Amino acid sequence: MSSDPSPQPPLATLPGVLELPRIGAVKRPSNFSYYGPVSPRLVSEAAQFLTTRTDVDFMAVSPYLDSYLNSTSADCIGSDAEKSACWFLIRITQSGDQWKIPRWHQDGRMYPYDTGRESVVRSKYGTTLLGPHTLMLPAAPHLFDILKQSKEIFWFWQGEKDVFAQTTAAQRQDSMFEQRIWLAEEYKNEELVELRKGEIIRFSWGRDDSPIHSEPDLVCDRVFLTVLYGSAQELKGMCEMREEVYGKHDAEDR
Ligand SMILES: [Fe+2]
Repeated sequence: MSSDPSPQPPLATLPGVLELPRIGAVKRPSNFSYYGPVSPRLVSEAAQFLTTRTDVDFMAVSPYLDSYLNSTSADCIGSDAEKSACWFLIRITQSGDQWKIPRWHQDGRMYPYDTGRESVVRSKYGTTLLGPHTLMLPAAPHLFDILKQSKEIFWFWQGEKDVFAQTTAAQRQDSMFEQRIWLAEEYKNEELVELRKGEIIRFSWGRDDSPIHSEPDLVCDRVFLTVLYGSAQELKGMCEMREEVYGKHDAEDR
């Protein structure tokens, strides 16, 4: 197993701010999800998607998406082949109360790592084109301890095969909702990472010190992008884990 020569910290914002394409409103809430090679086709399909579900101009959003992919890919650790594929997600939402109570969590492991690259810090890049930013806590030990404690309290089935077998999915979901309320209370006075408009945040996943974050309260229309990179093999592994199709996008209107 090779060691990572310059590990990236769990949380950072990329230098420079890309000028955002103007979006005034959302026409239709929807998700765009793509697993596959990073390519100009991805840019045009994503731009087309945004043009039909918001009032953004294709000629403004297309170069923006191109720059977004270029700057995140340049920041990502690895050779060209090691970051030749991606999971690219656009989330378009309208106001609603589903995240009034934050859903504090860390992102877990997204795919099986290629041999020799197990120790490399893997990250997701996120930015908000319209509406409220993701709620992000600093990567601080006392905050990880609180999350760990919440799992000890509410994930009563953890590590206990018999207990797991005796509970239903609904019981586990109820307990996780109680955990969500508990965490909302625990973190309510914590200072969040401050994000500026147009800023791209990089946050790691699948590690003990991966940043704790939540969807923001949806007080208005929101358009949010994330991308993560890996090799073609890693992203194909992710598709297998999620029963997705490699090389094609999926648009899910709600
Ligand atoms: Fe997340």
